[in-house]
Order: sequence, then structure tokens, then C-alpha cells
Amino acid sequence: MTQSVSSEDKYESIVRLAKKRGFFWPSYEIYGGMAGFYDLGPLGVILKNNIVNLWREYFVIKHLDMVVEIETPIITPKIVFEASGHLQHFTDPIVECLRCGRKYRADQLIEDTLKMKVEGLGVNELTRIVRENNLTCPACGGPLSDVKEFNLLFQTYVGPYTQNIAYLRPEAAQGMFVNFKNVYTVMREKLPLGIAQIGKVARNEISPRQGMFRLREFTIMEVEFFYDPEDPSEPPFDRFNGKLRILTAEARAKGLEEVVEVRADEAYEEGLVKSPWLAYWMGVANEFVKALGVLSNEILFEEKLPHERAHYATQTFDQLVKVSRWGWIEVSGHAYRSDYDLSRHIKYSGQDLRVFKRYDKPVIKYKERLVINKAILGRMYKSELPKILKAIEDLGIDKIKELLSSSGSDLVIAGYSIPKDALKIVREEVKVMGEHVVPHVAEPSFGAERLVLVVLDKAYDVEKDGRVVLRLPPRIAPIKVAVFPLVSREPLTKIAMEIYMKFLKHGITAIYDDSGSIGRRYARADEIGVPFAVTVDYDTPSDGTVTIRFRDTREQIRVKVSDVINEIKSRIEYSSSSS
Ligand code: GAP
Repeated sequence: MTQSVSSEDKYESIVRLAKKRGFFWPSYEIYGGMAGFYDLGPLGVILKNNIVNLWREYFVIKHLDMVVEIETPIITPKIVFEASGHLQHFTDPIVECLRCGRKYRADQLIEDTLKMKVEGLGVNELTRIVRENNLTCPACGGPLSDVKEFNLLFQTYVGPYTQNIAYLRPEAAQGMFVNFKNVYTVMREKLPLGIAQIGKVARNEISPRQGMFRLREFTIMEVEFFYDPEDPSEPPFDRFNGKLRILTAEARAKGLEEVVEVRADEAYEEGLVKSPWLAYWMGVANEFVKALGVLSNEILFEEKLPHERAHYATQTFDQLVKVSRWGWIEVSGHAYRSDYDLSRHIKYSGQDLRVFKRYDKPVIKYKERLVINKAILGRMYKSELPKILKAIEDLGIDKIKELLSSSGSDLVIAGYSIPKDALKIVREEVKVMGEHVVPHVAEPSFGAERLVLVVLDKAYDVEKDGRVVLRLPPRIAPIKVAVFPLVSREPLTKIAMEIYMKFLKHGITAIYDDSGSIGRRYARADEIGVPFAVTVDYDTPSDGTVTIRFRDTREQIRVKVSDVINEIKSRIEYSSSSS
């Protein structure tokens, strides 16, 4: 039924279709465009919103018992990124042509020219590769500089004071970390606690080249999931099923392409994933991406090697999806951030962001305390007593214990002789009610625009006769239903228009089209992925029925006009519950 399209053609065709039908196009086109920025058109906005809402359903609504959503600013003061480590580490390697001044991302230049994988290597190593292989500027052949670090944060300042430096956030995560205590308090001080955020982020990418896959401004959807690493209770793995396809760092380091297929709970139990909650959210991510129309065997979780991981991560998996032009591309990152971020913000803000973990019942602990007989020392040293007491305190209980056991009758502290019976170590019983802990964090993080492209890539199909059909899952299709009068004549147009308005009234996105042949109208609707078409024909005025035509099977059924809204609603709902 479908004709094969080369992957190159397919991508180009999607980009052409996106422009022609209003999904997306490069920003600022009338001024020649600006690399790394894309606009969403009328259909693109709805498609992206549908993807974002599906993400929200999987990561927030289905988990409202433990995840809440917040919104924080894009503009962020410098101190936050000093604390988070982004000012130091959020960099890509850059190399400059010493003749023409062009700048390149060094690892990309090496990968393109030498076909070797160098992700995550340091600047010295990259410079060595550039020199040993005599790499030159691809544009003018000029000599290249040493490789340097380029920080990807976009800088600005707040108010009229240029010293008030701030940055556009490159991830939403820091908004959740700095707000952890506020949200924890609002949520009645319970762990585990997930804080989700969806919003724009900006990264000053050196030379973005992959269209909508690599943007300088994009929408991130992420959860920072805070939990007590000592808590033995399991995540609710039974909320979803399905297996993860994992390529471990160990296999990658050996140059193997062996993919392990395991359930998320097994991935944790077998030690492939170090954090139970990281494994859990990878499971949710797997289900979410499948619901977007991606097949299980087109999804892969690739564990990053230590030098490929971000500075904050103890373990990271990239969720990859296979697409036509670019092969395997990353759609989400899954990082075990341990207590890195909270500990850094505790240090930089001076605020206590720990949580108090109350024990089920008090625990009896024993504590040693030093008792000083001030009467004896006061008699001996009179006005010098305060100085001596301070010296004893500064020494600390452990050192005093050591001296007591190793000295004869007197100890010498800060040059003063102290009789042993002036110092006593007493052991006391204390009831401990709980302890302070810094929660650990597992983070799933998605880019929304990449998913728009993935969804279009998976849905794009060309029929034998050359007609394009976007087989978008009904749940995310921007337009759910097209309404057509069979011919553009009364009373068919009037009835069709009434049905169309009824769909809009019910919040179901619809289009009305009465121009051209019915075949052309079906084709136009198929091309933008409309899953259902309602046609008002000559029988409608007399018997009160219309046809519903299904995009993917082209089957048609006849339903009463009074039932058509519910019929379409339930078909959309059925498609989401079965995905
Ligand atoms: N807080 C974690 C974090 O930001 P990341 O792997 O750097 O992790 C998360 O980004 C996701 O954002 C990626 O998996 C990808 O889907 C998307 N993303 C990252 N850089 C992007 C870019 N330049 N353009 C479009 N999407 C991007």
C-alpha cells in the first residue's frame, strides 16, 4: 500500500510539508534566518502542545500522588549557575580558523572529517587529534587554533546595572532545585517527591546544523525526582509494563552493540541502572515515546561513558529513537544526579535544604561528653582559667581521650599542666528522633521540538499513488476531524457547518472544507494527519446520518448526526488508552 521513500527524501519532504502546511519553518526567514531557531506554525503549535500534554499526562497527572508541576523564570542570577557548576562545566569544545576566523565545534569537525567518535574528550586530547591529523579549516583550508572550551550559557544583565549578570537557563532543573524546600513544605514534607517543569531554555550552541534537532532555544520537559536513597521501598513498577532496550556503557567500552532487553525493575535489580527511580522513570519514558507512535525496537537507552556524562551525573542513559535522516537521535536524557545539586546549593546559599527523616520510633544512641572540673583548674590557674578552658575545648574530645589514656598523672595542654582528675569523659544515653538527609535525585528530561520531528518522521507515509498520509496517533494529531459537505450546496453545507461548529464547541479541533472534489479534500486532510473525516451527503437531510471515514484504513461507517461527537470523542480516547 505504501511506496518506499529514501531517508534523505523523507526528511526533505517532511521539511517541505512542514512549511507548506504550517507545522514549522526557520525563524526570521525574511531577514535570511538565524541558525538554531525555528518557528512553529498553526498546526505545529497544536502538535507540540499535544505532545507536551501527553508528556504531562505520563509524567505528572498519572503520578500526581508524588509529582507536582511548577513554573520558574528563564532568567537566572549568576550565583545559581556558579552553584550548579554550569559556569564551569557547561561547555563545548571550539576551534577557530586562524586565517578566516570561522569557528567550529571541535568534536564535530573531527567526527565529520576523521569519522571517529570523540564525544566528551578534553580540549588537550582534541587539540592533539587536530594536530596529529593535520586538520585545517573546511572552508578556506587555513590553520586551526588550539581547541578551547566555549561556555554555552547565554548571558544578559538585569536592570540597568551591567554588573548584575544573569543567564538564560539551559535546563529547567535549577528552578526545581532552588525551590525544593518550598515545594517540600507545601507537599507536607513527604518523600519521594517529584517536581516537574515545562518551559523554554536556551543554549548558545556553537554551530547547530540539524534543523529542529539542534536548537538554540527549545522547550524542555523535565522531572527532578527527590528520594531518600536509604528508603528500601520500591517504585511502583507495576504501573506500566514493557521492556527497555539498553546498551550498557560496559558493552560500548568493549565496542559491542549488544542490546539487553529487560523490564525496568529488572534493570535496577540486575545492577544495570544504579538508582531504582532512574529505572522507574526510564520505564515511563519508554511507554510515553511508544504512545507517540514509535515502535519498541526503534527505542534504545544508551548508557553514557564516564567522560560523556554531564558534570552532575553519576550515571546517565540517553533515550535514542531511530529516525530516517539522522539515524539514532537522543530524545531524552536520564541522569542520576545523586545529591550533587542540592549539596551545591546548600553550600552556595547557606540555606539548609536537607530534610528531617523522622524514625518510626526513637533510637537510643550513646554520646560521650567531656566534663571539666572548673573548681580544681580555677584554684590552680585563677584568671587564666578561660584561656585554659578554650584550649581544652579546641582540642576536642577524641584527642583528650587519647591523652588521658597515654599520660601519667597530669596532661599538658597548651603548655599548662592539667591534673587528670580535672577531666572526665562521661557516656550518656540520648534518644534520637531522626536524622537530616540530603535527598538524591533521578531526572528524566525531554526536548519537545525533537519529539515534534520524531512524531512527523514516524507518521510520514507515502501511498502508491504518491499521496502523503501522516499517520499521527489520534491523541496527538493537531486536527482530529475534518467535516465535508459532499458537494458545496445547501442544505449539505449548512448541516456540515453546524456539525463543524459543534466539534469546536466541544473542544475538538476540526476543519471545514467544501472546495474541490471529495477525494482532494480527503487527501488534504490525510496530508496533515487528520484521523477522522465526517461527510454530509445526499442522505443526511432525510435520514439524519453522516459517514465517518478513517484515515488509516479508509473504512467508512455511518452514524447518526446526534451521535457523531461522542463517536469521535470515544475513538480518540480509545486510541490513547490502547497506545
Ligand atoms: N536537565 C538535563 C538536561 O538538560 P540534556 O540531555 O542536556 O539534559 C535534555 O537535555 C533533552 O533536551 C535532550 O535529551 C534533548 O531531547 C533536548 N535537547 C538538548 N539539547 C537540545 C538542542 N540543542 N535542541 C533541541 N533539543 C535539545
